[in-house]
Amino acid sequence: MRYPAAKVCPPPRPDTGRATIDAVAIRGKLCGLRDWQAADVAAYAYWQAPHHSWHDTNGPYLGRPSAEDGRQQAARLEAYVALPVERRPVPRESLAVVDPDDRMVGSVTWYWESRESDWRRMGIALYNPAARSRGIGTEAMALWTTYLFGTTAARRLDFSTYSGNAAMCAVGRALGFVEEGRFREARPWAGEVHDSVVYGVLRTEWEARVAG
Ligand SMILES: CC(C)(COP(=O)(O)OP(=O)(O)OC[C@H]1O[C@@H](n2cnc3c(N)ncnc32)[C@H](O)[C@@H]1OP(=O)(O)O)[C@@H](O)C(=O)NCCC(=O)NCCS
Repeated sequence: MRYPAAKVCPPPRPDTGRATIDAVAIRGKLCGLRDWQAADVAAYAYWQAPHHSWHDTNGPYLGRPSAEDGRQQAARLEAYVALPVERRPVPRESLAVVDPDDRMVGSVTWYWESRESDWRRMGIALYNPAARSRGIGTEAMALWTTYLFGTTAARRLDFSTYSGNAAMCAVGRALGFVEEGRFREARPWAGEVHDSVVYGVLRTEWEARVAG
């Protein structure tokens, strides 16, 4: 399977922590990933409110964020977008997921699972319910995986979810990620008991897949 991101990602820049003057704008067929902009802040703040449905499957067992949590998240984004792109880190820690009309519909993120061993964990949330179940999550994770392998020296990437998030588990399988860990009954929540699941991919596996 070929992914368009392979052609449009910036050249590899194993993360030096140094900035680049390049804005990130990666275009797929169904969606794109791009740098956050000041114009995204209002929509982002709107979607952080606790009543939105994306919270239902985004680690719900950790507790629903409060309205104040949402405001703080939005304030962090507002501070971040004030940074010119040449001062933003490579790789970006987050990019906006946008629809073909450049409207922000979600975000992709990563954080250190273990900085010492260059082990990074990815995340995704499509805030707008109209954007879900149309293939955007699968494509956005493919673009993000290619971007992160292209801008780091990471040997592997992964994401963590739970067995009750059928769509996220299906994204992992659709992209050829391997179910590397299943912690049985680790996520009892709301009267149901779910497993915690980690899906991962090696750089060598991803490169072979992108090459088709
Ligand atoms: C999880 C999420 C990223 C998946 O992205 P998406 O665009 O909705 O999913 P896609 O349309 O790419 O579909 C991916 C797979 O999930 C399946 N799927 C989609 N929606 C589904 C649903 N509601 N229930 C079960 N399976 C579903 C699709 O059939 C597809 O499977 P296939 O490849 O075997 O055909 C997105 O739904 C989302 O952001 N949800 C809210 C926040 C969240 O849960 N984030 C993840 C936290 S770990």
